Amino acid sequence: MSDTSFYLTTPIYYVNSVPHLGTAYTTVAADALARYRRMMGDDVHFLTGLDEHGQKVEQAAAEHGMTPQEWCDSIAPKFQSVWELLEISNDDFIRTTEPRHERGVQQLAQVLYDRGDIYKGHYEGWYCVPDETYWTEGDLGEGQTCPQCGRVVESVREDNYFFKLSAYADELLALYEANPGFVGPETRRNEVLSFVKGGLKDLSISRSNVKWGVPLPWDETHTMYVWFDALINYITAVGYGDPARADEFARRWPAQVHFVGKDIIRFHCVIWPALLLAAGLPVPKTVFAHGFLLTKGEKMSKSKGNAQSPQDLVAKFGVDAYRYYFLRDVQFGMDGSISMEAMVQRINGDLANDWGNLCSRLFNMVGKYFDGQVPDPAGAPLLTPEDTVLREIALALPGRFAAAMDRLDYAGSLEATWDLVKGANRYIEDSAPWNLAKSEETMGRLGAVLYNALEAVRIAALFCAPAMPLTSAEVWQRMGLSDIRTVTDLPAQSAWGHLPVGNTVVKGDPLFPRIDKDAE
Ligand code: MSP
Repeated sequence: MSDTSFYLTTPIYYVNSVPHLGTAYTTVAADALARYRRMMGDDVHFLTGLDEHGQKVEQAAAEHGMTPQEWCDSIAPKFQSVWELLEISNDDFIRTTEPRHERGVQQLAQVLYDRGDIYKGHYEGWYCVPDETYWTEGDLGEGQTCPQCGRVVESVREDNYFFKLSAYADELLALYEANPGFVGPETRRNEVLSFVKGGLKDLSISRSNVKWGVPLPWDETHTMYVWFDALINYITAVGYGDPARADEFARRWPAQVHFVGKDIIRFHCVIWPALLLAAGLPVPKTVFAHGFLLTKGEKMSKSKGNAQSPQDLVAKFGVDAYRYYFLRDVQFGMDGSISMEAMVQRINGDLANDWGNLCSRLFNMVGKYFDGQVPDPAGAPLLTPEDTVLREIALALPGRFAAAMDRLDYAGSLEATWDLVKGANRYIEDSAPWNLAKSEETMGRLGAVLYNALEAVRIAALFCAPAMPLTSAEVWQRMGLSDIRTVTDLPAQSAWGHLPVGNTVVKGDPLFPRIDKDAE
């Protein structure tokens, strides 16, 4: 394992709802990066988890006749099982009600209090419980509604402790200036810049009327504001606040990437770095905000009305197809429309036709012409122009893929991979193996053609693996190769000519059965 720690996180999700397409979207995207970085040999640590405190959870529990902890305990397994279903490879799962978290949160609060960055004051304003966000009178929409979600806000009048956020504006601006990659994509960076330039107000970090939270260590009549509590999960998970885990914390922190949705960018790009600066801790390398999934006001399956959950879609299309669709069809960082039609089109076009069919017909020909064994390309040592084109596409892929992934451009990374998939299909068409098989004289060339096409498939499977781990593993297994999930030297593995001659190739069932459009 390499020395390079790569620590990445998703937001910790509220337990007032079960996983849905939006939360699954963030989590799948983070997972694809985690898988890619593991393949690159990094020592990856991938964290997700749950945000379990606050007024909203208190209310949801009461509505269900449970204690808040019972409520959280009933929701947590639902998240874990959906993440398992979606092949999410998280290394840790943090819940903010765990002692390891509560201890760390109290420690950080105490550090800030001791440094004079927290003071007692009086809060009078508005609070949106579903968003767990404070608003001023001027922020509100018509009828005293939350400017973000449109729901009615509550008026709050209480003694609170405040964090001196306003004192960090200059340091934050200097941070954005010195680290242009701190906020991504660019549009979000601009939004954060203008927000901070507009002036920051101190942040209330405690509630005296909310019982379900972590008490302030110096005043137990107050619980911590849920966002203050939640943001700190990124460090408590990797050992902050636990002397026995000091080495781990030093190694893991700062994180490489916090994945967030655009709705929670201010918490992550303003409040979070200010808390870290105040505590004298390093700030994360990048906070990357993706956009929203839009359904044109319609449910994904209008006719059936039941395909809204990740579980429904996975049951219909399979987990790899699900992951592929969201990563390929929505430009990460922008809002994206999703629809059942587009999903079926991607699955039938890119997956069933281009990729699945390539594997089937190729493996079939190896079975038919070479008894299911990888032929020796040495029978036709000369490179034809078609051979050269195919190899060049394959040689260019690792660099193109890496450049796209470094920008979190999943669509671009898959597009680059599809150039090889399509290139291999074209290669087979142009080389017409079925004609070469007709004469003994061209059997050498036939072996070379099938070898080259198999090699393209082997390499394409490697680059499909972060998005589609199951089918890539299946393709490698059918080619007699090792478990693709154990690859940690992607650059070496993606060099041309690694496929051992004589490996057994089995055809197997279609990787991606075509979806009958009328059935939808
Ligand atoms: N608990 C806070 C986060 C605390 S992190 C320290 C929270 N939780 S949440 O359950 O509401 O999840 C929010 C995240 O879910 C969003 O930031 C986004 O990542 C994702 N999405 C929720 N709905 C979404 C869409 N409709 N589209 C895309 N992603 C969205 O906020």
